[in-house]
Amino acid sequence: MKTNNNHLTTSWGAPVGDNQNSMTAGSRGPTLIQDVHLLEKLAHFNRERVPERIVHAKGAGAHGYFEVTNDLTKYTKAAFLSEVGKRTPMFIRFSTVAGELGSADTVRDPRGFAVKFYTEEGNYDVVGNNTPVFFIRDAIKFPDFIHSQKRHPQTHLKNPNAVWDFWSLSPESLHQVTILMSDRGIPATFRHMHGFGSHTFKWVNADGQGVWVKYHFKTEQGVKNLDVNLAAKLAGENPDYHMEDLFNAIEKGDFPAWTLYVQIMPLEDANTYRFDPFDVTKIWSQKDYPLIEAGRMVLNKNPENYFAEVEQATFSPGSFVPGVEASPDKMLQGRLFAYGDAHRYRVGTNHAALPINRPKSEVSHYQRDGQMRFDSNGGGSVYYEPNSYGGPKESPEKKPAAFELSGQADSVAYEHNDHYTQAGDLYRLMNEEERARLVQNIVGAMKPVDKDEIKLRQIQHFYKADPEYGQRVAEGLGLSLTQEV
Ligand code: HEM
Repeated sequence: MKTNNNHLTTSWGAPVGDNQNSMTAGSRGPTLIQDVHLLEKLAHFNRERVPERIVHAKGAGAHGYFEVTNDLTKYTKAAFLSEVGKRTPMFIRFSTVAGELGSADTVRDPRGFAVKFYTEEGNYDVVGNNTPVFFIRDAIKFPDFIHSQKRHPQTHLKNPNAVWDFWSLSPESLHQVTILMSDRGIPATFRHMHGFGSHTFKWVNADGQGVWVKYHFKTEQGVKNLDVNLAAKLAGENPDYHMEDLFNAIEKGDFPAWTLYVQIMPLEDANTYRFDPFDVTKIWSQKDYPLIEAGRMVLNKNPENYFAEVEQATFSPGSFVPGVEASPDKMLQGRLFAYGDAHRYRVGTNHAALPINRPKSEVSHYQRDGQMRFDSNGGGSVYYEPNSYGGPKESPEKKPAAFELSGQADSVAYEHNDHYTQAGDLYRLMNEEERARLVQNIVGAMKPVDKDEIKLRQIQHFYKADPEYGQRVAEGLGLSLTQEV
């Protein structure tokens, strides 16, 4: 605890007489159990760790603000977007995905891009990545997908067999795998990458009319990536390279900024668009739905304390504010459950009351008690609802817009199953050098896979995206496309 005087105290505030020598029977000991300061000190130390995030464990955070630069009130009634020039405080956390809390920053991995807007109508979180798509499109596959990326249960080593086995059996991953294996798979810094909400969300305006929306945060620093050899060297020499870069840039006043753009799709287009617009493995063409500027995000303040602000920060795709709602995206739907649940486990049931997570708007509800209730807990105010004592009441006009649902309940996939066109388009967009590096990265990553069956299955996916893509990976691995899988 920070104190204004320089007298060391116990956690209960009493002056400490000796912080160098434990209380012992004579100078040799043994130690007396009545040295309660020693007991408390050791016991608290044992409890310094909370569980790291199950994914995105390693990360860096920063404070900043979001400023509206374009009037989009015809699409959303979200209060923080209500006026050009309006500023909203925000906090961001960047992260890698698969590594542990102490893992290296400069590895090939997507980067998390989690933004918390402290709006006047509560916190709005956009918990996205630096890629516009994801590896899978149904939440039911997420635990298996992450198992394949994490460590083997026996060796505790990363396992390329599992990685490529899962991907080759989940062709919907091809688009994201192509992005991951491209130059963008290792950003130069957190400052030099874009951010995406990735999912489709719904915006609703003051008249109750909705549109589908996607978010794109474009870096104003320009996109820069790391050469693979330099990245490997940095991973050894300075595993915290990206955290350090962000902290130092902000510390010296070189504030990184992103422009937020949105793509807007009329609700009815979702029924006829050539891809399912809720499938998070697909992008919407910007020719069909051009980028519209919304605002600008500037990061201008480092956290004062890493644990209090970055480690205890809890972002949830379910933290919506009026004017922003969920879409039927099956990944998003699963995430609406997963994050709050992770927060209650990792940080505690009252995580939302911690300073970093507490809304800057007034919070008034009937939740009471629970572990670590450190605020006034509602004092003596009315603690149930409905009541006759003037307690807070619901605001019917803030309800999510009503929407129609139909369909036969069943465990079924999205109807659109073309996993190849967009991945192939991305390949064809690359110049020769970019293609060569992409193939080299894939070949390097697939070489350690010990089953040809897995390699061949994956090569077929590359081939279906673009025959040249498949051919080159096959050649690099010394395999022939004619081999049977
Ligand atoms: C973190 C689950 C998909 C981006 C997490 C955490 C969980 C989780 C449990 C840890 C939360 C915490 O401890 O605070 C899931 C599930 C998914 C999914 C079940 C699929 C159904 C995605 C997707 C994206 C994403 C599609 C990006 C588009 C992130 C980010 C974090 C995170 C950025 C770190 C948030 C932070 O900085 O605290 N995810 N995730 N996740 N996830 Fe996901």
